[in-house]
Amino acid sequence: MTVFSHDAFADHEQVVFVSDEAVGLKALIAIHDTSLGPALGGCRMYPYADEQAALRDVLRLSRGMTYKAAAAGLDLGGGKAVIIGDPRRQKTPELLRAMGRAVERLCGRYITAEDVGTSVADFAEVRKTTGHVVGLPIELGGSGDPSPTTALGVFHGLNAAARHRWGATSLSGCSIAVQGLGNVGWHLCQLLHQASASLVVSDIDESRVANAVATFSARAAAPDAIDVAEVDIFAPCAMGAVLDGASIAQLRCGIVGGAANNQLAHEEHGEQLRARGILYAPDFVINAGGMIRVASERDGYDQAFVDRGVEGIGSTLRAIFESAETDGVPTQATARRLAQTRLARARAAQHALAA
Ligand code: NAI
Repeated sequence: MTVFSHDAFADHEQVVFVSDEAVGLKALIAIHDTSLGPALGGCRMYPYADEQAALRDVLRLSRGMTYKAAAAGLDLGGGKAVIIGDPRRQKTPELLRAMGRAVERLCGRYITAEDVGTSVADFAEVRKTTGHVVGLPIELGGSGDPSPTTALGVFHGLNAAARHRWGATSLSGCSIAVQGLGNVGWHLCQLLHQASASLVVSDIDESRVANAVATFSARAAAPDAIDVAEVDIFAPCAMGAVLDGASIAQLRCGIVGGAANNQLAHEEHGEQLRARGILYAPDFVINAGGMIRVASERDGYDQAFVDRGVEGIGSTLRAIFESAETDGVPTQATARRLAQTRLARARAAQHALAA
């Protein structure tokens, strides 16, 4: 297994390989950057095809978290954990507590939370062995499920994109294709339906699609056809890497913006979207709502702080869209530069203190 020469390795500070045979735990924790603060990021459980796939995921996701925190103005770094295994069959209280012990050994450099394949309830178990956890159930003093807040941030972001692209003052009458009707996708559909958008939906779980068709008067699309639906906006809210050379060539929308992490298969696909005249809302900016919410738990949950942060996603995106247009570069590149500027300032301040 290559690590330092891996194409997703981005000068990560630390990559930890976790093993606890007694409980069947195999996991990876990647701390990408702690210049702004401790690395925060969810713990995903997924039946990866092999260890390389898990490594690739944790490296890419942790770097995305660094950019997400930096662009959202949070004093946090980026990290992520992945547990290799099928959450439906292999997730046990013993395994979750063992994962908590692994997090505890990092002494607060990494703060964990729920992600795909893990739930807020699972973290009540993880908390028994580590204090470095956020996104806890409300009855344990946490802020509960972050997904509705992520969806709200995406909603603000799509409004900002529609305003930039078409001068629209709302999403009323917009056609929007939502890929993935899970925790975030479902809440996003609720917000879009309330805003009088018309929805096209897909999920590999047919019962969720049927439910959305009935609840939101949505039109169903097959999972392999949602990205070619002729709509105003395509909102990826399932898995990453959905935007590659082939899929971008077939898109029939004016805007792409959704909750999924790492939507671009590779950086150069940002340029392909721009060349096609499709406005892309960078994933790590538009999906920061959940991170803003769980981050607030560290100093005592503050709803006003969360509301300000989530509304700010719209204004941050507006600034990114305008700057990218002026410079003639992909929005993803502008968003990355924004995050990197903040990181560079934090590093310079640290070096000055150490000198
Ligand atoms: P989830 O696991 O609740 O939902 C994902 C949904 O996508 C499921 O309903 C699944 O059946 C569906 N799906 C999987 N493959 C699909 C395909 N090929 N086509 C259509 N549907 C498919 O996950 P959640 O929490 O809703 O997150 C969605 C995405 O947003 C993930 O990529 C996650 O990393 C990202 N995200 C989530 C945040 C949160 O607060 N939950 C925060 C930031 C990012």
